[in-house]
Amino acid sequence: MDNIILIGFMGCGKTSIGSKLSFRLHRNFIDTDKQIEKKQGRAISDIFREEGEVFFRQLETECLKDLLGQQNNSIIAVGGGLPLQKENRELLHRLGYLIYLQVTPDTIYKRLRSDTTRPLLQGDNPRDRIAELLNRRSSVYTATADMVMDTDGKEFEQIMDEIQEALKI
Ligand code: S3P
Repeated sequence: MDNIILIGFMGCGKTSIGSKLSFRLHRNFIDTDKQIEKKQGRAISDIFREEGEVFFRQLETECLKDLLGQQNNSIIAVGGGLPLQKENRELLHRLGYLIYLQVTPDTIYKRLRSDTTRPLLQGDNPRDRIAELLNRRSSVYTATADMVMDTDGKEFEQIMDEIQEALKI
């Protein structure tokens, strides 16, 4: 199972880098958020609003189980909260090689301050919310990943070059 899986906080570039890298490597690209939206026939923000976060987290686990046994040699981007559940971390490790795309709260804020699609960042003070969530999550991302990549101040092209170099692909 030679999947490459990108993990990290919302706005760290998992989807952008994942799709570009899959194009470069002629591999299939999967995004768990997109898979869930397709299967549910509604947007993530609607799932959160109509069913709540706990339900969404169950969908993430289901999605990983669906991917196991289906996906080989793919690039997979997973939602920022997905690695927080122990069961998901075990499934992720079975699914492929995990790269954590590390980014500072400032960069995330700049990228996502006008975003309306992330329910967890829709409060009055997204800057504090990002800092608080990242603070809580970063050690889990680091401990879960097979490789941690600092992406701040780097172009997507450079990040992809570094991934290819590290993985010798
Ligand atoms: C979430 C991240 C989002 C999406 C949902 C919850 C999170 O995915 O799954 O809004 O808890 O960090 P991205 O990381 O692709 O933005």
